[in-house]
Amino acid sequence: MPPELKSTATACVTAHLGDDPGYGAVIPPLYLTSTYNFPALDQMGPYDYGRGGNPNRNALAQTIAALENGAGGVVTSSGMAAIDLVLNLIKADDLVIAPHDAYGGTHRLLNSRQEQGRLRVQFIDQNNPTAINKALAAKPALFLIESPSNPLMRLVDIKALGMAAKAAGALVVCDNTFLSPARQQPLSLGADLVVHSTTKFLNGHSDVVGGIAIAKHEALAEKLNWWANCTGVTGAPFDSYLTLRGLRTLQARMDIQELNAIKVATFLDAHHQVSKVYYPGLPGDPGYLLARQQQSGPGALLSFELNANHEALGRFVQASPLFQLAESLGGTESLICHPASMTHRAMSEEARQTAGISESLLRISVGLEASADQLQALRTMFAAL
Ligand SMILES: Cc1ncc(COP(=O)(O)O)c(C=O)c1O
Repeated sequence: MPPELKSTATACVTAHLGDDPGYGAVIPPLYLTSTYNFPALDQMGPYDYGRGGNPNRNALAQTIAALENGAGGVVTSSGMAAIDLVLNLIKADDLVIAPHDAYGGTHRLLNSRQEQGRLRVQFIDQNNPTAINKALAAKPALFLIESPSNPLMRLVDIKALGMAAKAAGALVVCDNTFLSPARQQPLSLGADLVVHSTTKFLNGHSDVVGGIAIAKHEALAEKLNWWANCTGVTGAPFDSYLTLRGLRTLQARMDIQELNAIKVATFLDAHHQVSKVYYPGLPGDPGYLLARQQQSGPGALLSFELNANHEALGRFVQASPLFQLAESLGGTESLICHPASMTHRAMSEEARQTAGISESLLRISVGLEASADQLQALRTMFAAL
């Protein structure tokens, strides 16, 4: 993109347009080849083998890395693969500090790597200064932040926490899945690395599972690329093609989904059968001020506690003519999920309790449908309680 066109919307729409050297196609063609010709013995072209490099994957990596203000990144086969890829940057027995309310899959990965003896992990409340100081005194090698957190939408001060973690010698990694670079750029706030499940807002159409790890500096980006080729976690060309296609509309999707989310959150907040709404766009939310400081909007995800037992909760989600009962988030369609039995079931009951993930908690990913239809669907669901 020419330097004078700097906005996220323009960067997404124009990414790699007209790059086709063969036929001048406006949209970059799909390269399904697994292997590439060497021009001559001892001479290699830009690509040699699909695990290490592919034009579609590289176009996607460059585009998202630029949106995140990073030096480079690696597109992986899933968000979990991106997090696992980053773990290759630390040595055996190194300490990882992670949020106690991280995504359930992240929790499972770190616990499982610990059980293997690959690393040590401590899950802490990253809003508790005593817990942070204690954790940093143990000299972690990697400090993982997830802000907003999944599913409770808790924010942490990325700049302050990142600075403290770096001063203690840790690599600072931020999972930016819940907002995307259209709303938050953790590398500009001081993080060393950003990871995403591109399955979510970046692709935005719930038809690809993918991930990306992005480094602020070239040296770390090179290390990530080396490990991605070595372990073979790189993403497929077709998935990368689809994800770049979805990414072109990121800004427009995020803008409308967020406006819809504000209305859904306000509606739920005023409802007598809802005891609590977790959404940093609501003035009463503990993350409200911080969101205004480090995010360019509150995003399109929210959670809430429903005043209902398990059976009634089942009727509520079943009654929806619009919200699909499904895991995942960030697509054009609205989804509702019960974290305790769905996205966070891999966590022990005790770990869920510590994180504050209750049996009555529901998470909504607000989609692009007309806001009036979303609110009407919620009224139908409440009527079924
Ligand atoms: C915050 C967060 N990080 C990482 C992941 C893992 O991504 P994936 O499902 O693409 O492996 C998820 C999945 O829901 C997530 O919500």
